[in-house]
Amino acid sequence: MDAREIISQLTLMEKAALLSGKNEWESRDIPRLGIQSITFSDGPHGLRRQEGAGDHLGLNASLPATCFPTAATVANSWDPSIGEEIGAALGEEAVAQNVDVLLGPGLNMKRSPLCGRNFEYFSEDPILAGKMAASYVRGIQSKHVYSCPKHFAVNSREYRRMAMNAVVDERTLREIYLTAFEIAVKEGGAKTIMSAYNEVNGKYANENEHLLVDILRNEWGFDGIVVTDWGASNDHVEGVRCQSNVEMPNPGLDSARELIKAATEGEGRITEEEIDRAILPIIEAAIYFKENDHTKGFDKEAHHAIAKKAVINSAVLLKNDEDILPLKAGTTVCLRGPFVDKPRYQGSGSSQVNSTKVETIREQISNYDLKVVDDPEKADVVLFFFGLDEIAESEGADRMSMDVPEYQIKELESLTVYNKHIIGVMSAGSSVKMPWLDKLQALLHGYLTGQAGASAMLDLLTGKEIPTGKLSESYPFAFADCSVANYSDTEKRNLQYREGPFIGYRYYDTADVAVQFPFGFGLSYTTFEYSKLYVGEEGVKFTIKNVGDRDGAEIAQLYVGKEESGLIRPKKELKGFKKVWIKAGESVEIEIPFDDKTFRYFSTVSNKWEIEGGEYQIYIGSNVSDIELKGLITKAGTIEELPYDIETLPSYKTGKVRNVHYEEFEKLYGNPLPEEKVGELDINDALCQMKDAKSGLCRLVYKILKSKLDQSYEKGVPDLNIMFIYNMPFRAMSKMTAGAVSRDMAESIVTVANGHFFKGLGGIISGYFKNARENKKYEERLSHKE
Ligand code: BGC
Repeated sequence: MDAREIISQLTLMEKAALLSGKNEWESRDIPRLGIQSITFSDGPHGLRRQEGAGDHLGLNASLPATCFPTAATVANSWDPSIGEEIGAALGEEAVAQNVDVLLGPGLNMKRSPLCGRNFEYFSEDPILAGKMAASYVRGIQSKHVYSCPKHFAVNSREYRRMAMNAVVDERTLREIYLTAFEIAVKEGGAKTIMSAYNEVNGKYANENEHLLVDILRNEWGFDGIVVTDWGASNDHVEGVRCQSNVEMPNPGLDSARELIKAATEGEGRITEEEIDRAILPIIEAAIYFKENDHTKGFDKEAHHAIAKKAVINSAVLLKNDEDILPLKAGTTVCLRGPFVDKPRYQGSGSSQVNSTKVETIREQISNYDLKVVDDPEKADVVLFFFGLDEIAESEGADRMSMDVPEYQIKELESLTVYNKHIIGVMSAGSSVKMPWLDKLQALLHGYLTGQAGASAMLDLLTGKEIPTGKLSESYPFAFADCSVANYSDTEKRNLQYREGPFIGYRYYDTADVAVQFPFGFGLSYTTFEYSKLYVGEEGVKFTIKNVGDRDGAEIAQLYVGKEESGLIRPKKELKGFKKVWIKAGESVEIEIPFDDKTFRYFSTVSNKWEIEGGEYQIYIGSNVSDIELKGLITKAGTIEELPYDIETLPSYKTGKVRNVHYEEFEKLYGNPLPEEKVGELDINDALCQMKDAKSGLCRLVYKILKSKLDQSYEKGVPDLNIMFIYNMPFRAMSKMTAGAVSRDMAESIVTVANGHFFKGLGGIISGYFKNARENKKYEERLSHKE
């Protein structure tokens, strides 16, 4: 039977049930028609397949799997072939562990360096993030497993992620926040997409018609499965109407009942045809996955080797004074810093992998021609392994600052008394402040390397391998230098993206703000020279020569700008790149083609992609600040009318957007800005908002939550459960309790919080019995007992 025939035989109850999960990780099955469950599992850089009790935060153990370097790390390779290789290995592990849909990669834009999940995301640039994400998708899907790029869209902050509204103008939305997803869908062919927790311009991502229907389905031609982030569904009927397919994890059958009611009780909110349309990709997937053979294991050593190769190709050499690196054979080294024995190699939360094995520097160093001594005074060099602590990089919480913890910097300072030759080896999945950089003679940044990091970093330090990575994000001197520094208010529901398109280098480069390290920066043990730029209609050609004495790789970057423009524009924007290996003394001709994104902008006049006519600057850089070659090209315009008079948007015209006034942003936004809600709590407010609840009981619950949260910060170990509960809205109780709490009951809990104790309690009790009764009846109908 094909998918449509199967649908024709389903009852409405079965159909409705199929649109939400059966348990933490599986969709529902309909055995009588041979429809098996689809199994979802994290995650982006390694499988987190739970066999026992499931949870979405990585609290309970999962099966051993390879922990690859995280997305933030691999993005520094600028090499889609590495992404594809990791993806294929992930796909193999997924099949081996009976997983059908791998929940990754994560590709949200790094709007702020403080987002706690930046380690899981690729870049601040949509082209780099998109190309890397597409490569993972291709790799994963080559193994007959679906990849699920996430979180669609504009999920750039963890704090109150389920109870916030990203307020972003349409052009910025399209050009910055959606382009990477567009590439993952169109070039990667992603078959699943995860809708984000947050609202985008006043509508939850999972019921945002503009995102899911106008753009994802209609413009990009996506025909796969939209799955909610875990607990992200709000109004299930509206979600299904907007072609979201599976609500996860397991809301019980409350959501299914809502659908049936909406389809049958003449409310006109949804038709059975719309329900059928939503089921189609689920049935197609179930048929597709049936063929998978789950009896084969995977080659642990081979995958460990892929993880190592990825680090070697991604680590970034940021400083190397007097060419202290690579270390010569026989060098005497002293190992210091918190990560010598206990590496920091991944972040916390749903992406946390139970690694098949984990290398440490202490164990690996004996495989190298280095002499280890304990006394820094007696060593030729000190190798200092340091970076961010575990608490700094976790799903569910943002970082408080860009600082490396002080106890580490104190240790570094004390070492400088004994030895001036200190080489820093850093582990951190996001951008940090470096006021201590002058204490280091060299700095090799490994990001979060995954399980094979130690030998990879030692190969690079000793020169067995050559560093080739470049930063996929900017390193400002301080958070106050970021364009979003004043637009990061954590207390409000409406988070205005007042900086417009000027995030990351788009801001620093345009507004002339000095940074510690620019986007695209990375050193090598050899040097390259660029020459002979030719700009044609189809793309650019130029030559790179390796003028050093080692074979190495260079990452050449194509940026495009337009000095004379009637539009808001960053000075330069990345439009292409190429990583190329060149032997010592040899030259290579590089070609980077233009594509549909090279000159386009999104016009809010025509509601389409257009080209502004005139002359464009073409820049070939070894990073965004180091432009090696320049050229020009003239393009014919596709539309005359501009969306605004740029003179009325002075901050955006210059890119100096750190203090944009409300009115100026409103002009760019093109609509009245949403007001903060006042008054009583509602079902979509976060539990942390109980702080000011009318009910004393609820204020007490808030205090307990808050003190537990503070305790976990003091201990330095993230308490993911508390973080999640603290930030989740009341409605999530009905979405994440496997049917124990219905929406009516969650509403009654809000009634209690608003000070109507007895009314609320009555609702909770009667709701409890009603829900249990109806769930039972529904389950019986599904299993055809009745
Ligand atoms: C995360 C997702 C993850 C899901 C399932 C959520 O909390 O945001 O990225 O895939 O849990 O674990």
